[in-house]
Amino acid sequence: MVKVLMVCLGNICRSPLAEGILRSKLPKDKFFVDSAGTGNWHEGHQPDERSILTAKNRGLDISCQKARQIKRSDLSEFDHIYVMDSYNLRDVTQLASDAEAKTKIKLMMDEIFPGQNIDVPDPYHGGQKGFDKVYDMLDEACELVANKLIKEHA
Ligand code: 4NP
Repeated sequence: MVKVLMVCLGNICRSPLAEGILRSKLPKDKFFVDSAGTGNWHEGHQPDERSILTAKNRGLDISCQKARQIKRSDLSEFDHIYVMDSYNLRDVTQLASDAEAKTKIKLMMDEIFPGQNIDVPDPYHGGQKGFDKVYDMLDEACELVANKLIKEHA
């Protein structure tokens, strides 16, 4: 099983969408997709209702997900770790205890725009438009990630 972890701050807005979108693009028998937050405020909570609705509008059900905080062991357990923004990148990199773990961590938007340091914007304090924009960004990035992973792990 190839294991992929999506990471944001709260694990209720961006990374649950990323988890749902990427999972929908990968064969279930070969890939396990999960998500986590660098913070712990929402531990055990469902995704934000606006993320649930945004996914539902595109035909994805993410309502069963439960937020959790990333832990050090995730860095060894997962093969690929995609972070949503530069703060997540800093925080997850700090958790990585060796060079091998560090190589697993990638900024999500680098998949579309390599080296340009583009963040998936945190939509938490905004409206529905922000969630739709996040969905579109993640859908495009996840399409590239899925194609790459399928080739890489064929
Ligand atoms: P997320 O958005 O990192 O995309 O899940 C956030 C959700 C909640 C908070 C911050 C970001 N918060 O501060 O509670």
